[in-house]
Amino acid sequence: MSPNPDQPEPSREADRLCVIKFGGSVLTGLADYSEAASETYRHIRSGEKVIVIASALQGETDALYEESELVGAGASPVARARLVRLGEFRSAALMGLALDRIGVRVIVVDPGEIGLFAEGDPLDAGLCGLDVESLRKKIECADAIVVPGFTASHHESGAAVLGRGGADLTAVMLAAKIGIRRARLIKNVDGVYTCNPAKNPAAVRFDRLDYTAATAASEGLIQDKAIHMAEAAGVQLEIAAMGAVQASCIMPGPAITGALRNNQRKRIALLGCGAVGSGVLDHVVRRPDLFDLNPVLVRDPGARSSDARAAFTSDAAIALSDRLDLLVEMMGGADEPAVLMAEALSAGVDVVTANKAAVARHFDALKDAAVRGGARLAYSAAVGGGAPMIETVRRLRTPGVAGLEGVMNGTANFILSKLGEGRAFADALAEAQELGFAEADPRADVEGHDAADKLSILIREAFDISLPPEHIAKQSLAEITPEMCAAAAAHGKVYKQIARARRTSGNAVDAAVTIEPVCLSHPFAGARNEQNRALITDINGRIHAVFGKGAGRWPTAAAVFADIMDMQRSPACDNPVPDIQMPDRSAPGPTCLQPA
Ligand code: HSE
Repeated sequence: MSPNPDQPEPSREADRLCVIKFGGSVLTGLADYSEAASETYRHIRSGEKVIVIASALQGETDALYEESELVGAGASPVARARLVRLGEFRSAALMGLALDRIGVRVIVVDPGEIGLFAEGDPLDAGLCGLDVESLRKKIECADAIVVPGFTASHHESGAAVLGRGGADLTAVMLAAKIGIRRARLIKNVDGVYTCNPAKNPAAVRFDRLDYTAATAASEGLIQDKAIHMAEAAGVQLEIAAMGAVQASCIMPGPAITGALRNNQRKRIALLGCGAVGSGVLDHVVRRPDLFDLNPVLVRDPGARSSDARAAFTSDAAIALSDRLDLLVEMMGGADEPAVLMAEALSAGVDVVTANKAAVARHFDALKDAAVRGGARLAYSAAVGGGAPMIETVRRLRTPGVAGLEGVMNGTANFILSKLGEGRAFADALAEAQELGFAEADPRADVEGHDAADKLSILIREAFDISLPPEHIAKQSLAEITPEMCAAAAAHGKVYKQIARARRTSGNAVDAAVTIEPVCLSHPFAGARNEQNRALITDINGRIHAVFGKGAGRWPTAAAVFADIMDMQRSPACDNPVPDIQMPDRSAPGPTCLQPA
């Protein structure tokens, strides 16, 4: 195809942006927003910012069309458009809530806020304009922008909808105008087939097909107007199922059909079902197509008698029985879980954990076990919870990390802000415990051990240097008084606990956990409660910011589940003694430690 003069040259920024549209077929109820948020988070932690296009919940637009008939038969198209567009507004707001809950910096916009304009029949309009600058400004200060699909402002009538399936058109338009090459349309099918697979068992799935073939094969799966706009603008469309790496790619070139890789179910063991474990269990039980779940290991199975999500056991042998593919450790403590994880890894079982103490203190033993067993260990949630600090540091190993610093402990945020309000230390700590931020032994937070564990892991990731947490200098929160906080406030500053590491000459690193006053304008100053923030400086002096929630059920469960899904998708998991293969680079891949 010849270059399109209306299409902006893809910029560096555009390379880090993606458009994902969630169709009504995958938004069947409120619980699906959690899965859609996970899918979005998967892209964010791989370093992309995401423009999310939300369709209405399944059936909602039909119901609104019916209502518009019942109440307004014969009414003007614009009067009806004003009603039928409401499903998308609601859905975008729900998506914003689900993303916010897991700690993603998200902005939900209405079409008018980004100058998204349509023209023509208000019930079947075509998109004609977007204020790219206002959208870019919003993208600068968020990791996800949620836009209601299907609807736009209209110069003459004020409001319009884009015809059935119109959220596809919204996705293509935004990708085209911003200069993004691909738009991913998440549907309840895993791609485009030669004919309807539900009716014809001989149907074959396309890995790739061109726009003309897509129009012929789509049978309403993708809006025709969207396919035509994608072709004109040079946007590739990816048709994929939720959580899948593979997609049917609609792009110029010869068609390729392929056998879909069979998504074998994985047998999974969950050890621990506290706040985070219970959130992970929610995610796992929603995918019975992907996971067989062993009885979940808990201290007191009797207390779980009313929890119908799974069977529970206090016997580790039962929890670990059968031919396991994946162990998910969420028990707490350091030494006992490390032993269980090392045993699993050396037996060839992949492991996912959020346990920073176990990973920081037993890193070498766990790595050796993983190498011995040909298995992988993923621990994204151990540092930053849902703030993707480990992933960002890993990405920056090329060109190289010069230094990093971060606010990595929510309890410290909470206590320091309460001291700033003049509260006594003991009261502030008791409240942090009630809120569930503090570790079982709050000395881990107060004395800086929790932050040092996290820093030790990041030092491994950034510099490949072993600096055990006990060798990292730490300052105690107990050294800070309300009077010190008041004095800092008088100078426009606020105390924060900061974990910091910098590579020095040679193969050494300077690292410490300190408590220091920072200006209110500093990015760390605004980190409240469970919010974590990090600034990572690469060897070229560029600073990369990471934001997210570092503690709490939903952000941490999202990060653990993202690791689980990476393991599930990656072929290395298919074989207990795997021939390690790198995952498909066309989509975010595993962020786990694996044998070299
Ligand atoms: N105690 C930790 C905190 C929990 O306060 O941030 C998450 O690691």
